Amino acid sequence: MVTFEMIRENAQVRTYIEKGNANLGVMGFTKHSIGHAAKVSDTAARILTELGHDAREVELARIAGFMHVMGNCINRTDHAHTGALMAMTILRDLGMDPREIAVVIAAIGNHDEKTGTAVDAVSAALILADKTDVRRNRVRGRDRSKFDIHDRVNFAAMSSELTVDLEKRVIRLNIELDDEICSVMDYFEIFLERMVMCRRAAEMLGCTFKLLANGAKVLEDKRWKKVQKSVKKALTNAGIRSILIQLSAREQLKRGRR
Ligand SMILES: [Fe+2]
Repeated sequence: MVTFEMIRENAQVRTYIEKGNANLGVMGFTKHSIGHAAKVSDTAARILTELGHDAREVELARIAGFMHVMGNCINRTDHAHTGALMAMTILRDLGMDPREIAVVIAAIGNHDEKTGTAVDAVSAALILADKTDVRRNRVRGRDRSKFDIHDRVNFAAMSSELTVDLEKRVIRLNIELDDEICSVMDYFEIFLERMVMCRRAAEMLGCTFKLLANGAKVLEDKRWKKVQKSVKKALTNAGIRSILIQLSAREQLKRGRR
């Protein structure tokens, strides 16, 4: 039986994760290192353990969590899909049962918010663990003048904790943001899609997802709708602004040619 320890110590897995993290570093992304893989692996396993899932399913979530970033070694675009195929090759070579491989690769292949969604308990746990790993030490540099919005949000996260309330069936992310570095609005601009994905993932586990930012509930009923509305408005305005800038740049280029 393929165990998590075999995957954690596997030279291929570690090499692909490290190279993927180096590639993303060149492109200016936050860290997607062995540290992130291990944290996601631990959290995904903890979610399923606390919800009473069986030990093997917990282990599959642990394995998927550790392997989920390997695709960055090939390219950031479609990293979830390439990572799933890489995992399939490695797990098949190690002799894992195809029914287990199917669960692991479905989780890896569905963890990115652009193309994926929770399809079963393991993929739901991986999504929740991955999208909630927001912390200051995922930012690579310390020069704040060079921070983009992703860096700002991660750097502003003084603490973030994911808890499972089995009785109420609530999965809660409690995040403390330094609002001098990033506003709750900045947080939503980046994390809106991810939080929607978390909500669906929690539902897949028979739970609701609640988000508390600086002690305030922000992902619930009316307030959630209000936030969605204002973020949409802000993003639309930003979109319109960028179209206007592009149009005026084109116009200036045309004038220059004339
Ligand atoms: Fe991740």
